[in-house]
Amino acid sequence: MKEFFEIYWFEEVSSTMEIAKKFAKQGKEIVALAEKQISGRGRLGRFWHSPEGGLWLSISLVKSLLPEVIPLLTYVASLATLFAIEEVAKISPSIKWPNDILYKEKKLAGILLERGQDYVILGIGINVNNPLTLEENKGTSLKEVLGREVDRLSLLTALLKSLKRFLTWKKENIISLWETKCATLGKKVKVLTSYGEITGVAKGLSKEGALLVIDEKNEEKKIFSGDCIHLF
Ligand code: BTN
Repeated sequence: MKEFFEIYWFEEVSSTMEIAKKFAKQGKEIVALAEKQISGRGRLGRFWHSPEGGLWLSISLVKSLLPEVIPLLTYVASLATLFAIEEVAKISPSIKWPNDILYKEKKLAGILLERGQDYVILGIGINVNNPLTLEENKGTSLKEVLGREVDRLSLLTALLKSLKRFLTWKKENIISLWETKCATLGKKVKVLTSYGEITGVAKGLSKEGALLVIDEKNEEKKIFSGDCIHLF
């Protein structure tokens, strides 16, 4: 990975994921940043509210990926986001599996990964100084938490720096650091997967990065993707 990717800044786009994808298809690694997204995308086909004041960006990764890190990119991105927030806002958020950044159980930031044949687009959305919608009562922003605005350029710089660092880390180290920052582990959870609902206690991550849940029959389940609800 170069010192920093070239950064393209847009006033308004449909989604930075689309912009980054265009560059990725030309083999280019860039950061696409938008002041505002009209059709911001969230995980599982959800809409991501992206008005002015937030940090909305997508990074196209083509050549700088170690093959062994690709399955763990979601964890790399959540760690990088968490550390950037810690550094700039001086608060300690946690991660809800797989990659929501929470502060006191309210969502501060989200991560979206889209893969093509030979590229990955990493989308990161952080609620910084932007207004929150009413439906977002489970969400919060850095401004709401701190009672003041946060400098988005400092946050972006810290984010890209920590992302660059974690992209070179070994799999085992990513997993063990991620586990120390995860609020899901040790909790009773309900995970909605494409093959049904699993309820149990979240234990940790497997070597490949799956969430390990001990279900109500005391069986260990490996979950690679899904939507997780903390029960207590
Ligand atoms: C989630 O559902 O938690 C993931 C949200 C990801 C939002 C970011 S904002 C920048 C990038 N562009 C998008 O359309 N989505 C991601």
